[in-house]
Amino acid sequence: MSTDRHDDHHGDVRAPGNLSRDATPPDLRAGAEEADVGVVIVAAGSGSRVGGGELKQFRWVAGKPMLLHSVQAFHSRRDVAMVVCVLPKAFVGDPPPWLFQCDIDRLLLSVGGRERTESVANGLEDLPDEVKVVLIHDAARPFVSDATIDRVIAEARCGRGAIAALPVVDTLKEVDESGRVVRTLDRATLWRAQTPQAFPRDLIEQAHAKARAERLTATDDAALFERLGLPVVVVRGSERAMKITDEGDFARADALFTVNE
Ligand code: CTP
Ligand code: MG
Repeated sequence: MSTDRHDDHHGDVRAPGNLSRDATPPDLRAGAEEADVGVVIVAAGSGSRVGGGELKQFRWVAGKPMLLHSVQAFHSRRDVAMVVCVLPKAFVGDPPPWLFQCDIDRLLLSVGGRERTESVANGLEDLPDEVKVVLIHDAARPFVSDATIDRVIAEARCGRGAIAALPVVDTLKEVDESGRVVRTLDRATLWRAQTPQAFPRDLIEQAHAKARAERLTATDDAALFERLGLPVVVVRGSERAMKITDEGDFARADALFTVNE
């Protein structure tokens, strides 16, 4: 495992199992002949809404550290060539010991930035050459399902961005600063964006390069893609893929996990 994002990681990279790196590189559509999916898991936030001493992405939820859930979910797939975990700087030099339980031949650590967008950009820079499809995932969503991963990858292989999302079920109100309702939004057209989000590598790199040049950030990567006028589609996410944002979410996630086990 490399601990410095300025290292030349590429020499460390090797395909899992008996998949050969010498095979003809597949194009985007070719699928799982060779592992060509790179995953960036952003885990460099400070968890300010949860608070407390330990970072939320390292706290235990549903039987193991939160970040480990998603690293293992991606490592269990044969199409994943590399998982890049983006961590706060102090932890890149001194990672939590349980990370070494992972498939360390398919694990790199990158240093996070001040904003999530910057953390993703740092992770993208460290992806090895064979990656053609990029998945971006929040460590704060520990329960990522294989079916959702399949769906976003399938869309990205068709040359578009794809995000896991759920339709909005509540009626949504736009409200002004005084608390007065300005208007009711048309719920039928509104979706809640989750992660993972998948993109053809060259296009998401362009989207991030533009964001960096224009000093723009966004709360998800699809927004940067949309700004380039590139197509993004939604695929069905799941309630299980909830984001752990505040203290109460830990208990909710534990309960959800127990129910669904
Ligand atoms: N993240 C990151 N780098 C940042 C900010 C956020 O990698 N500079 C990651 C978080 O670790 C998390 C995901 O982006 O996995 C979604 O962010 P969020 O849930 O907002 O987590 P935090 O930013 O850590 O929490 P808070 O906003 O409460 O401080
Ligand atoms: Mg945040």
